[in-house]
Amino acid sequence: MIRVGLLGCGTVGASLVALIDRQNATIQARTGLSLEISRIAVRDVSRARPIGIDSAAFTSDAMAVATDPNIDVVVEVMGGISPARELILAALAAGKPVITANKALLAAHGSELFAAAEAAGVDLLFEASVAGGIPFIRPLRESLLAEPVVRVMGIMNGTTNYILTRMTEGGADYSEALAEAQALGYAEADPTADVEGHDAAAKIAIVASIAFGAEVTSSDVECEGISKVTADDIAFAKRHGFAIKLLAIAERFSDSNGDELSARVNPCLVPNSHPLAAVRDSFNAVFVQGEAVGDLMFYGRGAGGDPTASAVLGDLVDAAVNLQSGAHASLGAFVPMAIRPSDQLAAAWYLSLRVDDRSGVLASIAGVFGEHGVSIDSMEQHSLSGPDDAANEARIDLIIHPALQSDVRATLDALGVLDSVRSIGSTIRVLVEADR
Ligand code: NAP
Ligand code: HSE
Repeated sequence: MIRVGLLGCGTVGASLVALIDRQNATIQARTGLSLEISRIAVRDVSRARPIGIDSAAFTSDAMAVATDPNIDVVVEVMGGISPARELILAALAAGKPVITANKALLAAHGSELFAAAEAAGVDLLFEASVAGGIPFIRPLRESLLAEPVVRVMGIMNGTTNYILTRMTEGGADYSEALAEAQALGYAEADPTADVEGHDAAAKIAIVASIAFGAEVTSSDVECEGISKVTADDIAFAKRHGFAIKLLAIAERFSDSNGDELSARVNPCLVPNSHPLAAVRDSFNAVFVQGEAVGDLMFYGRGAGGDPTASAVLGDLVDAAVNLQSGAHASLGAFVPMAIRPSDQLAAAWYLSLRVDDRSGVLASIAGVFGEHGVSIDSMEQHSLSGPDDAANEARIDLIIHPALQSDVRATLDALGVLDSVRSIGSTIRVLVEADR
């Protein structure tokens, strides 16, 4: 019998309790171990919870659960940094393996927590923290341990992928689609973490740490969310054979000067021919490129109670089996690695401008691109004014060939001061063949 202490019983915790109930006989048959949820810490013990566990098991004293000598393994699914950090450290110090789904915590304090698990000689497992139900962390840390991974690129936030899919396919309004994602249990307690890219940034920081054995925290990740993506951008992308996706990307650059890495989250126009373009709704996918293995893709449900509970339960069984045999998984030490500034990264971009609709304007705009050595790949212009309209405004949408971000930035600055340019709208990266 493995006695489990559960910290948090919300979307993920309640699904985990139900899944253990359903699968315990199978787990026992396959491992000889039976799981029992012995105690549960929640914020509000008075709330009715239809999960079939005696109310005596509930407490608001989470530290008492984390350090209870009768608890064998602790599962942290409460979220947030504090008190989750202190609770996990206390459980590890008491010699208990810990399972967590908390990417925000691992992306901020992973090194400290992994070192504490190593010092205690117990597991700290976190499969559910990245890409929900997709078994990706275990393949990355075990199967791909010796693979020279060059790039990991993924759709790692279910809420934003759901919103973008609904806006693209159903013409839904942004806030309507966000409300649906929240009702389905995909969104974080504060959905700003989803839509502004912070949730995906935490996940790619964890992935970069493991893929490259480097110390990477959320603060190393350049981050832009989807809140500025417009219906016009989505329509442009559709007309030109792209899907707009929020991509989280970790990349390693190796040359004679050593290794550098880049970790970033940004919306991107993904060509429909790329497998990531076909990832819809709350599904996540992680695309790995290794020098030896080539391209790999992992696909599945990235959010929601049941898929996330599946990942937590896999870790829980693993930790229980390890506990019996006195073994534990080890990540090794992370080393510092320089971050390549984004200005030194090359990318293709989609740029949208509002300009005066009169002769000579296009020539002056094209001239600015030329002066900065930025090459235009394709261009589309629509007049926004009627024949008798004095506004004389046009919208110009361009895709540029890959260029250094510093040059793109300088081009946009120079365009911004042209009399004929009324405003610079969306600027979104484009995934091109060279990125694959
Ligand atoms: P949630 O529905 O908000 O549940 C949080 C639970 O933790 C609630 O039961 C809450 O108690 C309890 N709690 C919060 N603070 C507490 C405290 N200080 N002491 C005791 N209990 C406390 O959150 P969730 O969606 O299940 O997410 C949990 C974790 O999983 C987060 O780290 C999240 O990022 C991660 N995750 C979530 C998903 C997903 O799709 N939802 C997917 C992957 C990872 P009350 O019930 O009394 O409020
Ligand atoms: N809020 C997260 C998402 C949950 O939407 O992907 C899974 O980590």
